[in-house]
Amino acid sequence: MWNAVAVDWQRQVGVDGDNNRRYNSDPVLWALLGDVRGLCVLDAGCGTGYLSKKLAAAGASVTGIDFSEKMIAIAVTNFPDMKFDVDSCMELSTVPEATQDVVVSNYVLMDVPDLSAALHSFCRVLKPGGIAVVVFSHPCFPAGFSKVTDEENLQYTWPFNYYDQQKVVDPPWAHFTNNFIWFHRSLADYFNAFLSAGFTVERMEEPRISEQVASELADKALAKKLLRTPFSVAFRLGKPLK
Ligand SMILES: C[S@@+](CC[C@H](N)C(=O)[O-])C[C@H]1O[C@@H](n2cnc3c(N)ncnc32)[C@H](O)[C@@H]1O
Repeated sequence: MWNAVAVDWQRQVGVDGDNNRRYNSDPVLWALLGDVRGLCVLDAGCGTGYLSKKLAAAGASVTGIDFSEKMIAIAVTNFPDMKFDVDSCMELSTVPEATQDVVVSNYVLMDVPDLSAALHSFCRVLKPGGIAVVVFSHPCFPAGFSKVTDEENLQYTWPFNYYDQQKVVDPPWAHFTNNFIWFHRSLADYFNAFLSAGFTVERMEEPRISEQVASELADKALAKKLLRTPFSVAFRLGKPLK
């Protein structure tokens, strides 16, 4: 699926991130990351690489991995001076144990079928004392199930039980022509999976744009959504020293 989506994904995020990333979740992601200068950072599920490039520009030594060969091919074309590998977040077989200061995973965890395997891999490749910053679609406010009902309100229609984990197929949105497959889990399932993988949870944020940013966004429907409900959720996780 992600190979089929890769060219359209590049169109969505470009080399700078889409509006949701740039104005909404990226500022939170950077606040949770802190200063990355001189750090080894793994961008796990890097897609076409816009964030990998920004991390490198901020002074990190970055490796981007993605299990989609087409995403990685586009990332390499975009940023030929950077290191990208084909690998799965659920294995990270190309990344040796305890080598990374930071793992960043931006809008990926809802897409992996085995959350526990991905988190255990993230923890394995981190040095003791390292951190993981994970941003993913908010499981309580799935964009695909929402519609703007009037000037102010959003309505969510749940076609299943929130507490039940399940595979979900979203129809194409915007310029995409493929369905999107993702895996619903409750917020508590995510939180408990972080702890089970050996992480401590240091911070949680629900990104929200300011009125100022909302007034500057050309996409007014998106601005309204982002002012009223979180599109994503972000966690800073720590790998204990011992
Ligand atoms: C929603 S896109 C986000 C891409 C990028 N992080 C960004 O913000 O533009 C999800 C990405 O995760 C990748 N992905 C999904 N499951 C994966 C897995 N098990 N291992 C590695 N990458 C995966 C997809 O190929 C896709 O590039």
